[in-house]
Amino acid sequence: MMPPGTPDQDIKEQSLRYQLKSFWRLWPYLWPKDKPSYKIRTLLAMIFTIAGQFIVVLAPFFLGRAIDAMDLQVKDMGLGNALGIGIILLILAYGGFRLFSVVLSEGREYVFAPVAQYAKRAVATSTFAHLHKLSLRYHLEKRTGGLSRIIERGVRSIDFLFRFLLFNIGPTLLQLAIAGAAFWIAYSWEFALIAVAVVITYIWFTVTTTEWRLKFRRDMNKKDTEANAKAIDSLLNYETVKYFNAEKFETDRYDIAMEGYQKAAILSRTSLATVNIGQSFLMNLGLVALVLLAAQRVLGGSMTTGDIFAITMVMMQVYRPLNILGFAYREIKQALTDMEKMFALRDIRPEVQDAPNAKDIYDVKGAIKFDHVAFRYDEDRPILKDISFDIQPGQTVAVVGPTGAGKSTLSRILFRFYDIEGGTVTVDGHSLSDITQDSLRKSIGIVPQDTVLFNDTIGYNILYANPNATQDEIEAAAKAAQIHDFIAGLPKGYETMVGERGLKLSGGEKQRVAIARTLLKNPAILILDEATSALDSVTERDIQTALDNAAKNRTTLVIAHRLSTITGADKIIVMEDGQIAEQGTHEELLKKRGLYEALWEQQEKSPEHA
Ligand SMILES: Nc1ncnc2c1ncn2[C@@H]1O[C@H](COP(=O)(O)OP(=O)(O)OP(=O)(O)O)[C@@H](O)[C@H]1O
Ligand SMILES: [Mg+2]
Repeated sequence: MMPPGTPDQDIKEQSLRYQLKSFWRLWPYLWPKDKPSYKIRTLLAMIFTIAGQFIVVLAPFFLGRAIDAMDLQVKDMGLGNALGIGIILLILAYGGFRLFSVVLSEGREYVFAPVAQYAKRAVATSTFAHLHKLSLRYHLEKRTGGLSRIIERGVRSIDFLFRFLLFNIGPTLLQLAIAGAAFWIAYSWEFALIAVAVVITYIWFTVTTTEWRLKFRRDMNKKDTEANAKAIDSLLNYETVKYFNAEKFETDRYDIAMEGYQKAAILSRTSLATVNIGQSFLMNLGLVALVLLAAQRVLGGSMTTGDIFAITMVMMQVYRPLNILGFAYREIKQALTDMEKMFALRDIRPEVQDAPNAKDIYDVKGAIKFDHVAFRYDEDRPILKDISFDIQPGQTVAVVGPTGAGKSTLSRILFRFYDIEGGTVTVDGHSLSDITQDSLRKSIGIVPQDTVLFNDTIGYNILYANPNATQDEIEAAAKAAQIHDFIAGLPKGYETMVGERGLKLSGGEKQRVAIARTLLKNPAILILDEATSALDSVTERDIQTALDNAAKNRTTLVIAHRLSTITGADKIIVMEDGQIAEQGTHEELLKKRGLYEALWEQQEKSPEHA
């Protein structure tokens, strides 16, 4: 387990054993507690796989017996007599067994496919759900693309591990064990020893040389990326290249990068050839040793030509999948790493967690109290220092102050995106740490400083607050937010797409969509974080009306940049540098002739507010 809130540093390459452990974390998905039919499927898949290996190994022995029988058969008897019929039956058995092994392995696909797909989906969904549980701090520090890639790769790795580890390499090893046992039982332990020793050596050789080759491949990929980066950079700077007649220089630079790639690629390719030769040497050495040993016994009379035949065929069967062992090893390793990264993501504990006995809050009245609150985002920089204020139910309280004073931070704390370091925050007298995040967030609506919308329709974005709302309710919210007329005037109305992050709407429109959305949520507590960007006076008046409508009948915390909009607030809190400099009503603060009065004077003078 990682300590709470630690951003996952890129996970270092782990030992294979550790990685195999993370493979076991898949087991609950293959053996799901509440899905007995999936358990049966998994069990059947295992039985089919194991049975298939036995059958594949045993089939050649029938053919061996058939060949021996042919030796005994008198020439002109053909297949007509009893022995002949025996030969036919043995050959049929050989064919039948081989066919049966294919049926079993395809049958395994048939029964296992739903389980494999379920496992993939369940792992992906639960990882996704976990990501939403992680704290804002974590998400701010992570690149979102990186997170979705970890899930995507992790899920893909599951497929890969099933295909290669469970259904290819695993069964091959089982086949080897069965072949060894069969050799031992049918002939003698020397055959078993040679067969097993050769394959083990082969595996060891492949794994070692594949590890050695990995560095060529890495080098190759690195050089490839380098060459690409150079090409892109150079083409992006097309004009600059022309200004300085640097085409030749650029081409040479690209060529040098390509040369690096070429060298690495040659090494990678030739090293593969070396490995292939080594593998082939080992395989054939094993085969020759087995056949020599058998030949000696055939001459001694203790074995038959049919046995040589059977041994060769069994070994060919075992060798076949080993051809791709190098590739499979590399990919399995990669897949295990990917999977481990995904599971490591799931091990990160959310920084903000409900207390074990956290209660839900109902019928929130909206009394808010900050009591000596201290907070910092990062260890080395306190942001809020000793903040105390309270808001009575139904009041409108404004927070003003210079940029960076910590105003938006107050809203993030009230929403419990972060836990505080000192002091307490209460809603209706309940400390935030004693209530569930879910019930807290249900009672708070936020119109954030910079609104981001889903890349969908306007209607979808408003409906997001309450998926059960009717079209009338949506329109009522939009009207209160002073955005209905605008939407109705659009060719596609509520079906208009807003573009990525809502960028097809203007700042003012986006903000009013956000207000409509929050009105539809109808929370007991409303936080309005005014956008800093200057809006034209008509839009500003519209938004002001929207906000006034929104603030009716609920506790409202307005974070304001234009002081003219909050003169009527029940209380104004003036923040500076993470502290409360002053608080009181507009008139009281003007009389104080402090920071508020200075800000007021300054804004009254600015042409925008003239
Ligand atoms: N996630 C974060 N990690 C670290 N520091 C942060 C983070 N978010 C905000 N800060 C810092 O905390 C301070 C207060 O930020 P906050 O967003 O509360 O300011 P603000 O008063 O809302 O300013 P503005 O008027 O510009 O919106 C700023 O100095 C900011 O750099
Ligand atoms: Mg802010």
